[in-house]
Amino acid sequence: MRTISAIRNPLYAAHGRAGAAQSLIRVARSFSTAPADIPAPLPKLGGRAAWHGSDLDGSEWWGKQLTEEHLAELDAATKNAMSSGIEFEDDVPLGVSKDAFPLQKTAHLLAGLAEELENGKGAVMLAGMPVDRYSVKELGVMYMGMCSHVGHLVNQSSAGLRSKSRGYGLPLGQIKAEMKGKTPLEGKQANNYFRLHTDRCDVISLLSVRTASRGGLARIASASAIHDAMLDHAPELVPLLYQPIERIWEGGEGVIALPIWAVTPEGKFTTQISPSYIENAQYVNGVRKLTADEIEAIDLIEEIGLDIGHEFLQMPGQLTFINNHLCYHGRTAWKFAETDDVDNERDNEDNGRLLLRAWVSPFNSRSLPDTPEYKEMWGAIEGGVPRGGLEPAVRAGIKAKPPELIEAYASGRVDYYGMYKRKFAGEDIDL
Ligand SMILES: [Fe+2]
Repeated sequence: MRTISAIRNPLYAAHGRAGAAQSLIRVARSFSTAPADIPAPLPKLGGRAAWHGSDLDGSEWWGKQLTEEHLAELDAATKNAMSSGIEFEDDVPLGVSKDAFPLQKTAHLLAGLAEELENGKGAVMLAGMPVDRYSVKELGVMYMGMCSHVGHLVNQSSAGLRSKSRGYGLPLGQIKAEMKGKTPLEGKQANNYFRLHTDRCDVISLLSVRTASRGGLARIASASAIHDAMLDHAPELVPLLYQPIERIWEGGEGVIALPIWAVTPEGKFTTQISPSYIENAQYVNGVRKLTADEIEAIDLIEEIGLDIGHEFLQMPGQLTFINNHLCYHGRTAWKFAETDDVDNERDNEDNGRLLLRAWVSPFNSRSLPDTPEYKEMWGAIEGGVPRGGLEPAVRAGIKAKPPELIEAYASGRVDYYGMYKRKFAGEDIDL
């Protein structure tokens, strides 16, 4: 593990382990004056969900190989589902029910996976799906069929891009570059870097179909471990992340304030953050300007996460499942070529990096904080039910992106992630 770059960050450097206990008292005191509906920050979270990148290597659930028996079951179930009258929009199946996708041994594997996601590390990788044996359409059915044994698939949302190819309003998205750029524009996905974030669903799953010839590394980090490291190094910032922070979303008023870190009614941890959505909200009229400390705290999530998390190339046939209440994910930029670029026939929209993405509400998911904002954005706070994704925004009324936000980026007046002061490896889009 690299040393956290304290030199670049005097605030971070000012706090060492020795001061942690004393600082925790300050944290508790500062919250005695906070509004009654904001829960006190948790002390160190610890436990299995507070892992460092090196711990994943020793996990039986990180890189678990699908056996020939699993693959035979998946193949038969896919054929069964394909003949059951599934509707498609282009290559995307609009629904694959658990009943249409019968599994036995693999169902047992997926039950263990769901347990690890909710009560273990919150991150699982399966390996060995023979992606070259199937069309993207067939892979979508197989993948959604597997996910249907973990939970409810939800239609995907995106307050920013709203890209149909990425899965907006659909149960399956295709993550690929359609343009080169640090900022995705006009509904096109770009080959850009993503800071560590959560998706607005309980579990995000990605199936790698193709990699780029360069870049496109996946990043994952334990939110609990980041939380605990911040308590060690910058404890006075921790309470700020338990307070509501506005972010854009596509429903209701177009902006909603949720804490980044929160405690569920059962006393479990949950987190929800998209640095770009928070940054975007800063350009919407009427939104409270964040303080320098709040921006510093959000920036530190990335810095700590890259120090203690895990970076990897998700190879074709590998499937990841990530519990958004426990883990953050991100990516580095990758090589992208225009389709008519005769000097590079490898990394274009049709043959470059491609992952299929599913959003799942597991049958064993945790309940969420009982506040109007959680109810509005998630649609439901009870565990085990379909929630998150686009449906709650539809119920609250789809809101157009604020024109002042579109103008801010289109004019080049502001930079994507420009609100944050740190730059990190992997941000270069010109590979
Ligand atoms: Fe994501």
